[in-house]
Amino acid sequence: MSQLPRFCLSTPRLHLRSFAETDLEALVAYRSDPEVARYQGWPRPYTAEMGQALIDEMMNKPLDVQGAWLQIAIEQQESGVLMGDCAFAVRDSRGQQAEIGYTLARPFHGQGYATEAITRLLQYLFDERGLHRVHASCDTQNAASIRLLERLGMRREAHFVENYWDDGQWTSEYLYAMLAREWKAKAA
Ligand SMILES: CC(C)(COP(=O)(O)OP(=O)(O)OC[C@H]1O[C@@H](n2cnc3c(N)ncnc32)[C@H](O)[C@@H]1OP(=O)(O)O)[C@@H](O)C(=O)NCCC(=O)NCCS
Repeated sequence: MSQLPRFCLSTPRLHLRSFAETDLEALVAYRSDPEVARYQGWPRPYTAEMGQALIDEMMNKPLDVQGAWLQIAIEQQESGVLMGDCAFAVRDSRGQQAEIGYTLARPFHGQGYATEAITRLLQYLFDERGLHRVHASCDTQNAASIRLLERLGMRREAHFVENYWDDGQWTSEYLYAMLAREWKAKAA
């Protein structure tokens, strides 16, 4: 008997679900795409062994490990194809704040899929998990990610100037956040 996925949220076009063995090829393909990887912290080149290790870790990870990222597969309902992933990590000691992240393979950009996926993730974190605050960091050059965060209604809270070393240079980041009351006001 097959096991039910441990994590599964749905939207009109997507399933946000636990990673599965069958995701390896698509995961490695989009993580190896230089344009997709440009602002992400994973090692390059991104090998099949790294992809397999991530899938093994995520398939066996409990939902509530404090401080640890839970990577969630984003699947197109219509085709069953793995389009990308999103993630959250509950960061504070009260378990009331989370950081989120997201990636889509290039063929799925520009169609509102990330907005749809992350809106559902925020709904899960605020309405189902009762979190107080969700935040995300993004490279100040990552225009698509900035547009996504602002479309979601997140506020730019901080601009860290040359705060991390990436690809041989000092790099700057924005920090975006949303409070539960802001989420509720937006939903209303
Ligand atoms: C960040 C990322 C997920 C954003 O993807 P995206 O395709 O721009 O975002 P969405 O899927 O929500 O699509 C929104 C775009 O589709 C358009 N769109 C088309 N149909 C749409 C629909 N039905 N609903 C909403 N938007 C739609 C919007 O107008 C918007 O275009 P714009 O950004 O030019 O204004 C993507 O660029 C990515 O994976 N980048 C690589 C990984 C990365 O950098 N991650 C972030 C690290 S901080």
